[in-house]
Amino acid sequence: MIAPMARYPASRPRRLRSYPWVRSLVRESSLAPSDLLWPLFLVDGENIRQPIGSMPGVERLSVDLALPAIAEAHALGIPAVALFPYVEEHLRTEDAREAWNPDNLVCRATRRIKAEIPGIGIMQDVALDPYNALGHDGLVSENGVILNDESVEALVRQALCQAEAGTDIIGPSDMMDGRIGAIRTALEEHGYTETIILSYAAKYASALYGPFRDATGSGSRLKGDKRTYQLDEANTDEALREVAMDIAEGADMVMVKPGTFYLDVCWRVKEAFGVPTLAYQVSGEYSMIRAAADARCIDGRAAMLESLLAFRRAGCDGVLTYFAVEAARLLRHSRK
Ligand code: PBG
Repeated sequence: MIAPMARYPASRPRRLRSYPWVRSLVRESSLAPSDLLWPLFLVDGENIRQPIGSMPGVERLSVDLALPAIAEAHALGIPAVALFPYVEEHLRTEDAREAWNPDNLVCRATRRIKAEIPGIGIMQDVALDPYNALGHDGLVSENGVILNDESVEALVRQALCQAEAGTDIIGPSDMMDGRIGAIRTALEEHGYTETIILSYAAKYASALYGPFRDATGSGSRLKGDKRTYQLDEANTDEALREVAMDIAEGADMVMVKPGTFYLDVCWRVKEAFGVPTLAYQVSGEYSMIRAAADARCIDGRAAMLESLLAFRRAGCDGVLTYFAVEAARLLRHSRK
């Protein structure tokens, strides 16, 4: 509700914009490092740093190089990192079994990070795409159909394996029906009562995931598209139904993805459910801002912070963003 305004000149809205101190006093939203989660890409081996062509400034790192970067993120006040693997060719199969190998890259990394940097949260994605020879998040039948219930069984195995390695936040990003309930039941049965589920509840079939699929190497393998499981870009009621189901099935937090093109969905989800709501500023959003900045079309730093603040204004409690570390460094001494 907006109070009725006095007329000019009794009301001069510019009075409250005159100086930095008054602008900061009346500022409605805030952005802090504690609002940011940092997704990063891992590769097997030692001392490896691989640039990702479609994501300038982002690299795949071997775990030994990721550790100091994560330690810096922790020191900056970033609460958690999300780990994504680049899986070697011979480990990508049609049954995606590497996803529940307790010694797979992300599980080994999780154990090492937990041992060396206690105090930072670790999130892992639940979805088969990095391990699936066909690039899909679920299992695919011989005639090319996604097998929902068989996929859920595989995802439960993957989630248990992640929890066993010490993952704090399980993030199902696969959009199969019924997976949140199945994963929650399995976690409880196996004693993982504290494991947090962050459901990618409203995940759209977006054109903005291309650079991520380059980073994980799943894009070139993908047969067809993901439109039988990811949401249609035109829908928001459907997103609310997905969120309602995931909360009922045991999700602790929900996510909207991508972020910037779907701020209306963020707002509706937060208004309707009042649960912790995160947005994923996905790879394509990152690359758009980065490319425009590199071409000197926009001020990259200012645009990055503005884009992140937009999520807070739209009601999000936090944002997964490839800008997390850069933004956190700037936020330590920013003034407007
Ligand atoms: C895999 C997954 C994707 C992203 C996160 N988890 C890609 C996809 O669904 O194809 C996208 C993240 C990004 O673009 O930054 N299920």
